[in-house]
Amino acid sequence: MSHTMPTYARLPVSFTHGKGAWLWDGDGQRYLDALSGIAVCSLGHAHPAVTSAIKQQADKLLHTSNLYGIEVQEQLADKLCALSDMHNVFFCNSGAEANEAAIKIARRYGNSKGYALPKIIVMDNSFHGRTLATLSATGNPKVHEGFAPLVEGFVRVPFDNAEAVARAFAEHDEIAAVLVEPVQGEGGVHVPTPGYLKQLRALCDQHDALLMLDEIQTGIGRTGQWFAFQHEGIKPDVLSLAKALGNGVPIGASLCSDKTKDILQAGSHGTTFGGNPLACAAALAVLDTMEAEQLPRKANALGNAIVQGFTQALANVAGVVNIRHQGLMIGIELDRPCAELVALALKDKQLLINVTAGNTVRLLPPLIINHEQVERLVSSLSTLIKDFLK
Ligand SMILES: Cc1ncc(COP(=O)(O)O)c(C=O)c1O
Repeated sequence: MSHTMPTYARLPVSFTHGKGAWLWDGDGQRYLDALSGIAVCSLGHAHPAVTSAIKQQADKLLHTSNLYGIEVQEQLADKLCALSDMHNVFFCNSGAEANEAAIKIARRYGNSKGYALPKIIVMDNSFHGRTLATLSATGNPKVHEGFAPLVEGFVRVPFDNAEAVARAFAEHDEIAAVLVEPVQGEGGVHVPTPGYLKQLRALCDQHDALLMLDEIQTGIGRTGQWFAFQHEGIKPDVLSLAKALGNGVPIGASLCSDKTKDILQAGSHGTTFGGNPLACAAALAVLDTMEAEQLPRKANALGNAIVQGFTQALANVAGVVNIRHQGLMIGIELDRPCAELVALALKDKQLLINVTAGNTVRLLPPLIINHEQVERLVSSLSTLIKDFLK
């Protein structure tokens, strides 16, 4: 009997070790990981640069507290700001916490403008986390179920519809911010129309509201740029990161622009573990490695190659509705619920995939996946999908 809470529907496998895009179970069976722990291990498993940074830091110092200066945290903040052109960073431990900070920043910004009940525009079908505020921001009724009363102050509109956002600004006063994922991940890998983020940027400028991007899944090279907003040539006021930043060492970050950099002051926000030396050393190694190996650029090329492979292999297959992607964030939508594909891929193909939004196969392979592994992924998964749809 398990003494862990039944919060996860776990698959009947556990892994003992990994290397790159490969994982092994206790029986020595090898699996191809096309999910990266849900967009976390973008450098693959047991990357030597990350392992070595963790070991070296562990030999020196794990944790002191944010009561004191943390040199490696400063270095990581410098690096993140250089890559994103943002101004400063608050470090935390997860994606939900990064979005919590963003929501607090929006509230405080609204309060500073004299808003009695500042509101944040959020999207249908979105996912922002499991804390009370972030689940309230999330646009999925299943995530809300049983947790009433939700946190108030969110105005919901359809995704990829800038007119709906303009209408929300017109219909509601005291809008302090817009919170959006540049590509919806959990919601089914939805890539918005080019220009959407630019339109949101313009609307936020027009109404003096903050544009807050949840790049927890899209950030750190996944979509073919360091950050997905860089595809659109805009800049957010607040940027949430987590997942791939530590390649498996828990770390989250909220980045602020020149406009928002002074909103959180000493005493207004904090966390015990956030930005501790161990997590920051791992994250610095992640960013340095991605930069040296030009992985964001490669994610673009690899994503195109994988999608081209699936487009050919699944051409004219009845039941395949759509193949969507930005970089290595890939969704294959089917015309029917397909959650069982996850267990079938694991058992029959030794392949780790995910199904989201009920009918969309989601792939988030590591950015270091090689061509042979790409071919294996395309051939084994397209065979599985064809058999499933027969
Ligand atoms: C876009 C997005 N935001 C927030 C989160 C929540 O992050 P975490 O699970 O680290 O709290 C996730 C996790 O899947 C996510 O994909």
